[in-house]
Amino acid sequence: MIVSTWDFGAAANAAAFARIKAGGSLLDAVEAGAMVPEADPTNHSVGFGGYPDREGYVTLDAIIMDDRGNVGAVAALEDFAHPISVARRVMEKTPHTMLVGAGAHQFALEQGFSRTKLLTPEAEAAWREWLRTSQYKPVANSENQRGSALDHDTIGILACGTDGRLAGACTTSGMAFKLRGRIGDSPQSGCGLLVEAGVGGATATGVGEEVTRIAGSARVVSSMRAGMSPMAACREAVTHIARLRGDAVKDAQVAFLAIDRRGEVGAYALQPGFTYAVTDTDGHTRVSAAESLKGAPRAR
Ligand code: GLY
Repeated sequence: MIVSTWDFGAAANAAAFARIKAGGSLLDAVEAGAMVPEADPTNHSVGFGGYPDREGYVTLDAIIMDDRGNVGAVAALEDFAHPISVARRVMEKTPHTMLVGAGAHQFALEQGFSRTKLLTPEAEAAWREWLRTSQYKPVANSENQRGSALDHDTIGILACGTDGRLAGACTTSGMAFKLRGRIGDSPQSGCGLLVEAGVGGATATGVGEEVTRIAGSARVVSSMRAGMSPMAACREAVTHIARLRGDAVKDAQVAFLAIDRRGEVGAYALQPGFTYAVTDTDGHTRVSAAESLKGAPRAR
């Protein structure tokens, strides 16, 4: 089974499923899935076409992992369209788990990745408009100014084999118009993503700072390890954020998506509007609206 965040997860799942059908591994599948929104210029929160930081630089964060503790990540990577593939090289070719900024850039070049101009005319226009009309305000206010933040955000993708083995990937351009150097939850193991053999996997989307504060995906996996269902584990993490942060998250979106080793799927969000895509072992995909703390799911 393959699960991923948001409506655009359906296309990612299709690519991941095709990769498995072609004989690829679970890691191959989640990488192929993550590459779909990374290449989509109309997706302004992931990869090519992502909105830039406050200075106009598109900087990308990504992580990939299997369920045996093999992890690779990049953060604040510029000029490469597929940070998820660079993250996989970090996992497979280095003794490290994360490279950032100039070092990640140098590594990507050394690994033979081609440079790409990531700032599209549309994203640049949005940035210039933001510069003209907005004062910089950190975190949730920047997220809100993106306008579509509740509908389009990070892609996290999890694959679970029929044998219960797992892999996951997560990739994003992060919060629109963020401070230069800002890194969210997505590339951090246990924050934007965690998969664990014998338990399951979880991924997060929404305001990364709120997920990072509680090591959100690790919390969800830990709850599943203790016996909670994926849905209950996601709800527990969201409820914890709401209690901890109160008014600070009243307009923010945070959501978790999880799958356990038996293929049971659960999701929960702070606000209505979070959707996720589930592809079953026959390749059929369903997009669902998650339940949320602050209201019923939006009708689909
Ligand atoms: N959840 C993605 C980010 O905040 O960067």
